[in-house]
Amino acid sequence: MELRPIAHDDVRPYASRAAKEHVSLSEGATPTDWWGVFDGGRLVAFAGLLPLRNGYRFRGAYTLPGERGKGYGTMLLTGLIDRVAPARIEAIALDPRIYDRLGFRRASESRTRSGTTVTRVILEGRRHVW
Ligand SMILES: CC(C)(COP(=O)(O)OP(=O)(O)OC[C@H]1O[C@@H](n2cnc3c(N)ncnc32)[C@H](O)[C@@H]1OP(=O)(O)O)[C@@H](O)C(=O)NCCC(=O)NCCS
Repeated sequence: MELRPIAHDDVRPYASRAAKEHVSLSEGATPTDWWGVFDGGRLVAFAGLLPLRNGYRFRGAYTLPGERGKGYGTMLLTGLIDRVAPARIEAIALDPRIYDRLGFRRASESRTRSGTTVTRVILEGRRHVW
């Protein structure tokens, strides 16, 4: 398995499927750095790293539907944490379980306009331990 930078064009083909799962892969005003996990040369998971003034935000974390539960998501997020640690990282999670395991704390819960509950999670500037 390999974690390497990818282009926004590489994630575009998955945008409509991801949107159905409430994950937006669109670019905002500040460009996102996209990273992909490859297994046997095939893209299986990806996430965006958005630089903020005080750290980073994980966005668009996504494992292809047939590839979930195999550890790709964990490899993706731990690899990115290692790259930016000890910077602060936040994420708006649909399901905070994977972030709980990586040492993020649940900061607040809110509802999106479409009625989805999301949890804001934060990993304060320190290395995770597991
Ligand atoms: C969340 C997601 C990226 C995890 O990727 P993955 O490759 O399945 O992750 P792993 O195999 O490393 O599993 C790690 C943990 O994720 C959690 N998990 C499992 N299914 C999940 C799901 N559907 N949504 C969120 N977390 C999930 C579990 O805690 C799991 O640990 P466990 O196997 O010990 O129970 C993937 O399920 C996904 O793409 N979900 C849909 C989109 C999404 O919700 N993205 C996150 C936006 S914040």
